[in-house]
Amino acid sequence: KHALNIVKMKKMKQEQIPLTMITAYDYPSARLAEEAGVDLILVGDSLGNVVLGYDTTIPVTIEDMVYHSRAVARGAQHTFIVTDLPFMTYHGSIDETMRQVRRVMQEGHAHAVKLEGGAEIAHTVQAVVQAGVPVLGHIGLTPQSVNQIGGYRIQGKDQADAERLMADAKALEQAGAFAIVLELVTEQVAEAISKELAIPTIGIGAGRGCDGQVLVFHDVLKYAPDYREKKFVKTYADIGEQIRQGISEYVNEVKKRVFPGEQHVFAADEKVVDGLYG
Ligand code: KIV
Ligand code: NA
Repeated sequence: KHALNIVKMKKMKQEQIPLTMITAYDYPSARLAEEAGVDLILVGDSLGNVVLGYDTTIPVTIEDMVYHSRAVARGAQHTFIVTDLPFMTYHGSIDETMRQVRRVMQEGHAHAVKLEGGAEIAHTVQAVVQAGVPVLGHIGLTPQSVNQIGGYRIQGKDQADAERLMADAKALEQAGAFAIVLELVTEQVAEAISKELAIPTIGIGAGRGCDGQVLVFHDVLKYAPDYREKKFVKTYADIGEQIRQGISEYVNEVKKRVFPGEQHVFAADEKVVDGLYG
């Protein structure tokens, strides 16, 4: 039903056509992203930060991911949807991991799952792929491990780190991942990985050599009350300020009895009311 699949994504890499991905967390964001023409939607566990108000992605649960993924799937019925497996849901037994994957696919209506990690989770990636579920890898800065990494640091700065990232990328490709997210990786290392792999890389803060780009919905649109500038983000709108202004005008107009106006009220001979919920 949707135009894109993992075979076409690999072909797009060969043809050097960039893949575009944005996160979405609910029906309207997904629908708007689809209408805007993105190739893929990520139901990211960044929803913990930008939608649920947590400081990290660590408190996000499988229930949160399933619930938001379902809403996204209703909004974007023709777009390839990838849903994050949240913190600690793919580090136990393969059976336990499979139960989480089943929920995201069957209840969350995703087309693929994303797992953070490199060579150390390659066996898990392989098992999920063998079950028929496409896996998007994610290396570089992996926010679920922020307490292990010791902060949100740029990855691939020295030779050893660069070599480790390259080995992780190869292990994920070998395990059957259809693409890999590179987060907060130096441009040079991300470009080298992208050239080495046959599968596409999708970068966030990983420079111009990646095969695609992904950004967080709320970053692209400045849709956050406490938005902070990030070097790797470009903002294309200031929705936060527009929302604040719109609500503020509404409040003022009610206080001043400007709203509702004559055009918003019903007389006894009113016939049709459009736009109601239910
Ligand atoms: O959760 C998320 O939004 C992500 C992207 C930053 C890749 O994982
Ligand atoms: Na994520």
